[in-house]
Amino acid sequence: MKKTLTSILILLVAAAAITAIYRFGFRKSIPEAPVGEQVVSVLKQNDCFACHSMQPELPFYAEFPVIGPMMAGHVEHAQKFTDLETAAADIDNIDEVALSMIEHSVITGQMPIPEYKMIHWGTGFNKKEKALLASWIRDTRLARFSNGLACAEFAAEGIQPVPSSIPFDSEKAEMGKRMYNDGRLSLDGTISCASCHILEDGGADESSDRTSEGIDGQFGGVNAPTVYNSYFNIQQFWNGRAADLQEQAAGPPANPVEMGDQTWDDIVARLSEDKALVKEFEALYPGEGLTQATVTDAIAEFEKTLLTPDSRFDRYLKGDKEVLTTEEFQGYENFKKYACATCHTGVILGGRSFEYLSIFEDYFADRDDDIEYNADDDGLKGFTGKDSDLHKFKVPGLRNIALTAPYFHDGSVDSLEDAVKKMAEYELGKDLSDAEIASMVAFMNSLTGEHEYLRK
Ligand code: HEC
Ligand code: HEC
Ligand code: HEC
Repeated sequence: MKKTLTSILILLVAAAAITAIYRFGFRKSIPEAPVGEQVVSVLKQNDCFACHSMQPELPFYAEFPVIGPMMAGHVEHAQKFTDLETAAADIDNIDEVALSMIEHSVITGQMPIPEYKMIHWGTGFNKKEKALLASWIRDTRLARFSNGLACAEFAAEGIQPVPSSIPFDSEKAEMGKRMYNDGRLSLDGTISCASCHILEDGGADESSDRTSEGIDGQFGGVNAPTVYNSYFNIQQFWNGRAADLQEQAAGPPANPVEMGDQTWDDIVARLSEDKALVKEFEALYPGEGLTQATVTDAIAEFEKTLLTPDSRFDRYLKGDKEVLTTEEFQGYENFKKYACATCHTGVILGGRSFEYLSIFEDYFADRDDDIEYNADDDGLKGFTGKDSDLHKFKVPGLRNIALTAPYFHDGSVDSLEDAVKKMAEYELGKDLSDAEIASMVAFMNSLTGEHEYLRK
């Protein structure tokens, strides 16, 4: 046994020495090429795809005892975190989240993980590579993701301020607002969108129940997300099954647990008994009139007005440095340092990707026994049917997060403290100090924005 270990060790040192000579000698150079290709080359030369790939090419010693299982564990965590190889395949169209992931690894210099660097001397970004990546990240942000609202210092920050408005049709939005509050969308007239997305209260369900109460006192399987700023979600619902707000709005009225066992034909027929309403729809949508498509379009138009600008954090991004307390500022620094800002990035600090819940620990195994595993827990897989999407959820945005407890798709987390703790444990494998947690909660409390409907 001892002999085998010694020979493994000698082999490893020899392999490390050879690759180091190779890397330091001539391989690690940045090619003359468009910047995107240079970036891919840098990632490749630092072995990022050795672990962050769905089909990693494992070296010969992946078969060895001790090292083999250790490597498999690293690759599994790395894959669940981010598939950089796929992101690199279309580098010029890289998404915000993958960009923030790469940024995090450039700033911290932590990647590859220490155990890997130990036997792959020369991996890890050098100064020149870091400079190239940093300027590429900055340029990509400015060209594709910045909205021009932050001050010069934060123009290329991953998180951007919420705009005070986006283009929308005011007459349709006005109609959408009426439909949003109209109980006639439900079978028995008792439930409207506003029953579960209370605009005065953060746009989510006001009750402390895990999930919301729909028609006939029935409860659904997941926690209601906020409608505020939902425009910024890449897709709608925890599992992304609606492509946009219009498609989303068609869901609840025909959902037996939410607004009743009915079809849109039933709903349109019921609404059409109101002749004045029919006339108004004909004027608003010439040639179409009152239909499922126009009712849901109006609601989606209304939802474009549900933006919450001017949070204290946004005022900070816009250049008012004094507005955050020291603790809140520290919280933002921690939020970035601990990679929270990789998944929770963009205007709403989330909503841009589907990420694996349980990267380090099994969330569902640890969950309170009172909650039975159900189809909603499958996450994205429930929509795509792909096994690799099991337990992936749309990353929730964190705007106005202080107003929308309880948290997580299952509504099982009551406080922000607990949400942060669980995120650190399950997503990052980290045990944060109480002070670090408190600072991040303070930071998240500064994300509450303003809207005329929001109760002050
Ligand atoms: C030996 C496998 C391995 C290699 C090689 C590797 N990683 Fe990782 N990576 C991991 C693991 C494991 C994690 C999970 C977090 C941890 O353990 O620190 C991770 C996490 C990450 C994360 C998310 C969290 C964070 O700390 O930033 C990013 C981004 C990342 N890696 C980027 C990279 C980049 C860029 C490279 C190439 C320079 C790279 N990784 C090379 C294994 C690897
Ligand atoms: C009975 C409560 C209930 C009613 C009524 C209801 N919703 Fe929801 N809403 C929810 C729940 C629960 C979810 C999450 C469902 C899921 O992801 O599977 C949700 C999700 C959403 C989302 C997606 C947000 C995101 O971040 O993915 C939007 C937008 C939304 N609802 C708008 C509406 C509109 C518009 C109406 C009226 C047509 C409506 N809701 C009626 C409970 C309700
Ligand atoms: C790998 C991606 C990823 C990372 C890293 C991450 N999160 Fe999350 N976060 C998620 C996902 C996915 C959910 C939804 C979980 C669920 O629905 O069960 C979530 C949920 C949350 C929620 C609850 C939001 C709500 O409306 O229910 C908070 C708060 C949160 N994260 C904060 C953080 C903090 C703080 C960190 C850093 C310590 C962090 N997250 C790191 C992906 C991530």
